[in-house]
Amino acid sequence: MNHIVKPYPLTHPYVLEFPQASDMRGHLTYIEPSHDLPFLVRRLYYLYAVPPHARRGGHAHRTLFQCLIALAGSFDVMVDDGFAVTRYTLAQPTVGLILPPMVWRELEHFRPDSICLVLASDEYDAGDYIRDHEEFRRLAGVTP
Ligand code: TYD
Repeated sequence: MNHIVKPYPLTHPYVLEFPQASDMRGHLTYIEPSHDLPFLVRRLYYLYAVPPHARRGGHAHRTLFQCLIALAGSFDVMVDDGFAVTRYTLAQPTVGLILPPMVWRELEHFRPDSICLVLASDEYDAGDYIRDHEEFRRLAGVTP
């Protein structure tokens, strides 16, 4: 079960910018999920030591909301809502990519030492994944 707290446009991916406190000692970015995200965070995980030619993702989620952040390095995210494909390059720790349910995503072109933090709206549930692209297209209403 998801916990939607804000009436953001929840059917399309979009990018958020988080605040940054900077001084001579460096940068600090902060996120208050109940204010800054369109869902409450019930899980976080991170991808790291991803080989340059590896692809992650390759699935959609039925109900899960996620926010992807490049804490270090950079990588590309291909997002397919069934009708249009959009490509994002995440390269700043102040930027979050919100992925609502029912979008197919592929993560690729990880630069060495990249870290992808994922904030997720629910605990891990293998049954929430759609791993077959044709099934995704049917469920998204693209094909009968
Ligand atoms: P997966 O979601 O397929 O990775 P990605 O989308 O980044 O390519 O997960 C890879 C493996 O890790 C899979 O066996 C399930 C496991 N896993 C968990 O046990 N808990 C989690 O929260 C996540 C995200 C994955």
